[in-house]
Amino acid sequence: MKIGVFDSGFGGLTVLRELLAAIPGAEYLYVGDTARLPYGSKSAKTIAHYAVSSLHFLENQGSEYIVVACNTASALAMPAMKAAVTKEIVGVIEPGAQAASELSNTKNVWVIGTAATVASHAYRNELQKRGVRAVEKACPLLVPLVEEGWTEHPVTEQVARIYLNELKRSDEQAADVLVLGCTHYPLLKPLLHRVLPEKMRLVDSAQAVAHSVANRLGELALQANGQPSVQFFATDSVDKFRELGSRFLGREIERVELIALPE
Ligand code: DGL
Repeated sequence: MKIGVFDSGFGGLTVLRELLAAIPGAEYLYVGDTARLPYGSKSAKTIAHYAVSSLHFLENQGSEYIVVACNTASALAMPAMKAAVTKEIVGVIEPGAQAASELSNTKNVWVIGTAATVASHAYRNELQKRGVRAVEKACPLLVPLVEEGWTEHPVTEQVARIYLNELKRSDEQAADVLVLGCTHYPLLKPLLHRVLPEKMRLVDSAQAVAHSVANRLGELALQANGQPSVQFFATDSVDKFRELGSRFLGREIERVELIALPE
């Protein structure tokens, strides 16, 4: 089974990491559109345009199933992406919202993500369908801080504290779940646990989508050959991808192929 994974850059490797754990026997193709990163501050039209060229590449390389790891692309461009491919495609929003709705007792959750993801209200809408009220907060500074490797830095802790205090002030309800609506945030889990009230539980959209794909593929996932293989493709510096990507994936990345996607 060939699974294509798409992200704006390195962050989606947190999703690949969970996929490798949930479906270890598949063959993975990962495209990071690093030349056009970040997506989180761009418009829906631009993101859809960029995303579609990566998806065509993944299909041409033989992907039988496609996972959109990028929360921003999943939030803003799912209809365009679905229309552009013939293979089954899944994004992170629905699995993340589903996991949050199952975990929340109070049916009140918080969602953090990029500016574009939050402005789209994709998570809020999916949660509403499941009877859950959501308050969303854009945390744009967290992506560059994580890419800088500052996942345990006091500056990042202070920034997270400010964002979450603003969220708390804007929401009087008893939220008991925080959805990590961005590929980079799983790396901040220990820091976020320190900053958040004790009762708050985290939903990692990377884990949620991996479990959902494993369930969906069921038998097919089990039939995979038992030896995971991953091919990495990036649209900009392969050295930077190897270096930064290894941190997101949690293991060394040896080979990355540079690709040029149509403008
Ligand atoms: N991958 C993006 C996301 O999950 C974060 C990085 C970006 O803005 O491109 O929203």
